[in-house]
Amino acid sequence: MNTLTSSLKASARRAPLASARIPRASFRSSFRKYSTEAPPKSSNTALYASIGLALVGGIGYYAYSSSDAAATTVKSGAQATKSALKFTPTKVDYQKVYNRIAQKVDDAGDYDDGSFGPVLLRLAWHSAGTYDKETKTGGSNYATMRFEPESLHGANNGLNIARGIMEEIKKEFDWISYGDLWTLAGVAAIQEMGGPKIPWRPGRVDGFATDATPDGRLPDATQGQDHIRAIFYRMGFNDQEIVALSGAHALGRCHADRSGFEGPWTFSPTTVSNDYFKLLLNEKWVWRKWNGPKQLTDKKTGTLMMLPADYSLVQDKSFKKHVQAYAADEGLFFKDFSAVIAKLFELGVPESQWVTSEPWTLLSTNEEHESK
Ligand code: HEM
Repeated sequence: MNTLTSSLKASARRAPLASARIPRASFRSSFRKYSTEAPPKSSNTALYASIGLALVGGIGYYAYSSSDAAATTVKSGAQATKSALKFTPTKVDYQKVYNRIAQKVDDAGDYDDGSFGPVLLRLAWHSAGTYDKETKTGGSNYATMRFEPESLHGANNGLNIARGIMEEIKKEFDWISYGDLWTLAGVAAIQEMGGPKIPWRPGRVDGFATDATPDGRLPDATQGQDHIRAIFYRMGFNDQEIVALSGAHALGRCHADRSGFEGPWTFSPTTVSNDYFKLLLNEKWVWRKWNGPKQLTDKKTGTLMMLPADYSLVQDKSFKKHVQAYAADEGLFFKDFSAVIAKLFELGVPESQWVTSEPWTLLSTNEEHESK
């Protein structure tokens, strides 16, 4: 795809469904220029030591299980060790992976609203959102959603699509761990859909089915504020962070054949914005009359939706305060969203595994073009 076609496609994708919105991303002009820096050598040692251990563990695991998943684990562990011996990936290498993901995000044809961005972000979030701060289990480290039964947990319905896309990228960049790949895709999805820069760094390692967490750690959309708090407090988030994270529902849609719910939250589901908060506050939401799970619809157009869990954010005083702040100030939302997504994607990764002490910011496609 040439540059013109791709930028035309990108602006078409960002076009709102029903209201006249100007693509925000095209207004960005003063981007930070990119400079290359190699990660410190010493910290990589820890990473490769873990990969080596993972490989040994993988062989042990394979000895008593002949499932495909175990075979994949062994292969990816072996591959990572082999690659690690061959070369040390630098920021430039991760930027290359980012760029490939960015192409894929846009190359969605007729899929949903013309972008794989939302479903990739959901994959990254569901891989990280299993974290439990008390037991320090779950999180983005081991990418355990590759294995059954986690891949079959109801909350993960439909994420096989996102994992399939990731598999294509993994073939090209076999040295990257799945956890790094999936979270990097979450970062790319947000940045490419006009959102804020998300600080990110590599260091996650591939784990095993035995590292997976039990079903029930992700939020249940039919429930209200008490449940939402219990789930997100367990990960270590506070009320403001919970509301900021929920702003991700500006993106994408619900699918009857995945969650049972149906429809988008906003009129521009492939653009990161504070529209979710504005709509939540300003529209009149009524229960949809249909043959499906309880969800709300906007009285005016009947085309948008809110989950009971979304709606609880304006029924709870402490949550509502933050909804109001983000509805009034998109800059504030972008700043807080960036910080909380960066925190989410790092859940469950021991400090010693990071390749760099300071997270990086990777260039979005727009910046790549401008810097050439
Ligand atoms: C109270 C917490 C949450 C609940 C109950 C919830 C529930 C859901 C449900 C039911 C869907 C529809 C899935 C489908 O049918 O395809 C969905 C989609 C989505 N969620 Fe959430 N979610 C929550 C928090 C989050 C967070 C924290 C993020 C990211 C930071 C997020 C990102 C997304 C995205 C991007 C989609 C659209 C996926 C697509 O278009 O394929 N959600 N969520």
